[in-house]
This record gives sequence, C-alpha cells and structure tokens, in this order.
Amino acid sequence: MRILHVAAEIYPLVKTGGLADVVAALPAALAARGLDVRVLLPGMPAILNGVIDLKRVIRFGPAFGAAVITLRLGRLPESGLLAYVIDAPFLYRRDGNPYLGPDGCDWSDNHRRFALLGWVAAHLAAGELDRHWQPEVVHAHDWHAGLAPAYIAQNPALTTATVFTIHNLSFRGLFPLDHHADLGLQISGANQSGIEFHGHLSFMKAALVHAKRVNAVSPTYAREICTLEFGWGLDGVLRGRGSDLSGILNGVDYSVWDPSTNAALPKHFSATHLRGKTVCKLKLQAALGFACRAKTPLIAIVSRLTAQKGMDLVLGALPALLAEGAQLVVIGSGEADIEAAFRAAAGAHPDAVSVHLGYDEALSHRIMAAADILLVPSRFEPCGLTQLYALRYGTLPLVRQVGGLADTVVDATPESLKAGVANGFTFDDASSRKLAARIGKACALYRDAAAWRQLQLYGMAQNFSWDDSAVRYEALYRSI
Ligand code: ADP
Ligand code: GLC
Repeated sequence: MRILHVAAEIYPLVKTGGLADVVAALPAALAARGLDVRVLLPGMPAILNGVIDLKRVIRFGPAFGAAVITLRLGRLPESGLLAYVIDAPFLYRRDGNPYLGPDGCDWSDNHRRFALLGWVAAHLAAGELDRHWQPEVVHAHDWHAGLAPAYIAQNPALTTATVFTIHNLSFRGLFPLDHHADLGLQISGANQSGIEFHGHLSFMKAALVHAKRVNAVSPTYAREICTLEFGWGLDGVLRGRGSDLSGILNGVDYSVWDPSTNAALPKHFSATHLRGKTVCKLKLQAALGFACRAKTPLIAIVSRLTAQKGMDLVLGALPALLAEGAQLVVIGSGEADIEAAFRAAAGAHPDAVSVHLGYDEALSHRIMAAADILLVPSRFEPCGLTQLYALRYGTLPLVRQVGGLADTVVDATPESLKAGVANGFTFDDASSRKLAARIGKACALYRDAAAWRQLQLYGMAQNFSWDDSAVRYEALYRSI
C-alpha cells in the first residue's frame, strides 16, 4: 500500500512542537510494517538543506504566486525514507519559524504557501507530477496540509483515500474569505460550506469536511473536540462525521528518547541503573546555580509557554512550590507576558527557579533526565508527548486530567499505588490552587523513597512506542 504523509514540519529539520516528532516517527513505523511510505514537505531552507540527495522530479508553474516550482525527491536524514520537497523559493525560502515572519506575525501569504502543499499532494495523487509513484492514501496532518483532502475531493476522477489527523484543533487555518480566489478551489454553492467558517476560510474545516477519515491524536481528545468546550466552533462539523472520526494515541520514538543512549546526557541510566539519573540531576543543579542536593525535588517544564499549556497556572502555584522547598527549571518559549513573568520569577528566586527562554533540543533531554517531576498542567492537550518522554526518563509527570494526558497518566492514589498501576499525578480543575495542592502531595510522596522508586520503575517499563498505533493507522488505511 502506497501512503503519502503531508505536513509542514519534521524532526529534526523543522520543529515547532510535537507535530514534527510525529511526522518523523509515524511514517518510519509504517514503513517498518512493510508499507510503501513517502513524505511531502514544503521547501523551507532547513528542509532543502537537510533532505539528502535531492533530485528534480518535475518543474512547473506559475502557481500560487510563484513563477517556477520544482518538485524534488530525496531521503530523510534519520529514517532514510523518501521525501518529496516542494522547492518554491518565492514562498518557502525563509529562515526561522515556518509560519511566522521575524515580526512574530503570520506570513501574509500563508494561505498560498500551505494551499500549494495540499495542491501538490492532490496532483501527486492524480499521478500528474511523478509518473513512477502514485499514492493510494494521502494522509494529511493539521491545517497546513488541510487542503489536500479538499483538492482530492474536487477531482471526480480520483479515488485516492484521504486521512486527516488533527494535532491541534485550536489552529484552524483561518484566512479572509476573499483569499479564495488564490486557491483554485471551487467554493461556490454547496461546496462553500465545506471551507467557509463564519465569514472566513478555514483550512482545518476543509479537511474535516472532505477527508474520508478524520482522527485525533488521542481517544479522549477525539471525544472532547465534539463538545462546545473543546470544539473551537467546529464541534458540530466533527459530530456530523460520526464514526468517521476516531482517536489514535501518538507514540514515542525510543531511538531518540532513551536515557541509556542519548548523547546529550552527562551520564546514562536505565531502570536497573538509576544512579546515573542522580548524576544528571546534580550536574544540572550545579549548572543552574542551585544547591546540589539529590533529595530536593527538582520540578521541570519543557513546553511552549502558552495559556494552552497552563503556564499561567504554574506562575500562580509558584509560591506553594517554593514553600515545599522544591526547585523549578523551565525551558520554553511562547507568549510574551508569560515569558516575562517566568523571567521575573527566576530573577526573584535565582537559587530555586531557572528559566531558559528559547528552544534547545539537547538541553531539553538533560532537563528531562535530571528532573524528578515534569509539570504539564494543560488547559487542553490533544496528546502531549513530553509526559511520555518523562516516563521513560524516570521523571514522574504531573498533569491536568485532559486529552491525551488523561489517556496516559494514572494518578498515584492509595488504590492505584497498591494495584501497581500509578505512573504520575493528575488534577482536574484548571486552577493554580488545584495544581499547587497536587504539587504538595507529589512532594510529600517524593519523601517516601521506596514508593517513588516503584512509580519510576513502572513508568520506565511502560511501552508507548509507535508499534500499536502504527497497526491502528494501517487498519484505518485498509478500511478505506
Ligand atoms: P506541543 O506540540 O503542543 O507543543 P507536545 O508535548 O506534543 O506539545 O510536543 C512538544 C515537543 O516540543 C516535545 O518534543 C518537546 O520536547 C519539545 N519542546 C517544547 N519546548 C521545547 C524547548 N524549549 N526546547 C526544546 N524542545 C522543546
Ligand atoms: C500538537 C498538540 C500536542 C500533540 C502534538 C503531536 O502540537 O498540541 O498535544 O502531542 O500535536 O500530535
């Protein structure tokens, strides 16, 4: 079966979040099952530089404002999978964040930049761009690739099966309605409701309406998005898809997230050799200017610093966290006011709060390895990957009971501890008070070294690899 994955980012070349991790790992897991999988990516500089042995497949244009577009084919650096890259300098040769300009605002031509991605997918599906390979399934990820199912549905000659995965419904790919003239989509009459969203175009809605199957990245999130609270105005569309909508949990690429081999760590460790984790902790404490104390709870955040991630709740819970005698290390970037508040907290408590504003893959591994507890107090969380990475690193996740966090973290209660199924801590209400209370209880349990060890060992032994989820995706493809 020939599958084309279509997405705007891929680890390690272009990454703004978990989407990139999934787009690197899922196609590889499917290929390992014997499927013929390729990936289609926009030609951002890091992608053109990072995909190996790029060869020209076809040149075409003008299209989407670009005079000439070259479709190239090469191999991904880590997995060796074949990847098509759309080389359109006018649209994609821009450094930095793939969606935002240097001023922090969306590029004004994003509708064209990402329509082209979907358009190329549809024309590959039609066999018009590469006569040697034609996908039977086009699997598009998030709104950036959302027009792929719409362009395919618009071509009556095409029988290509389409799957659309929702990684984050809050990003709906909204543009002014009059931009439709740039897209080459028929959106008059009955078709209009398939992309029109309250006087705007929505690439997300176009995908939700036109894909043969839609899935979200965890079972709980798939249910939540059908409600007013989590639906971002698209819950009605999603409820209308009935059994065409499912939830498939993301996996972890354990070749990247393995504390016994990761090159960024000062000392390797595993469930049977946990001493190395203490070395990682003491070294990080020293590097951050904290007191080097193995028994002081070290709490970490590796996250976008946004309201979605509940980072304002952490700021509200900070006095309680400090009263517990805990240390807090934060790596992330995001909303300006939240960044400023974390910076101020670090300034006020240099011996207990350290904040690294920015993106640093190696440091994120060192923090994950050193910490005792990882906070993920999200308001909503489609899947969440960091809590899964934390588990493998012997770091207990403390999460809000929502979305994929609810599907993966089992709260430590007397019952779950007795049954041996606890792997972290959860709380319900999105409030600093509730978060602070759970941090307090987690710190109390931390003082019980034997109970803590039991939780760590259980979490480290859990298997959230892609194997099961790849089976589910393959079954989904076969069903259509
Ligand atoms: P989301 O995609 O919503 O941001 P996920 O938990 O799915 O959340 O994925 C976040 C990914 O980004 C993880 O791989 C995490 O380790 C990584 N990450 C987040 N912030 C940083 C940062 N500042 N530096 C390095 N990696 C980060
Ligand atoms: C999104 C979600 C996150 C999910 C990731 C990968 O960025 O916010 O919860 O883990 O996509 O699917």
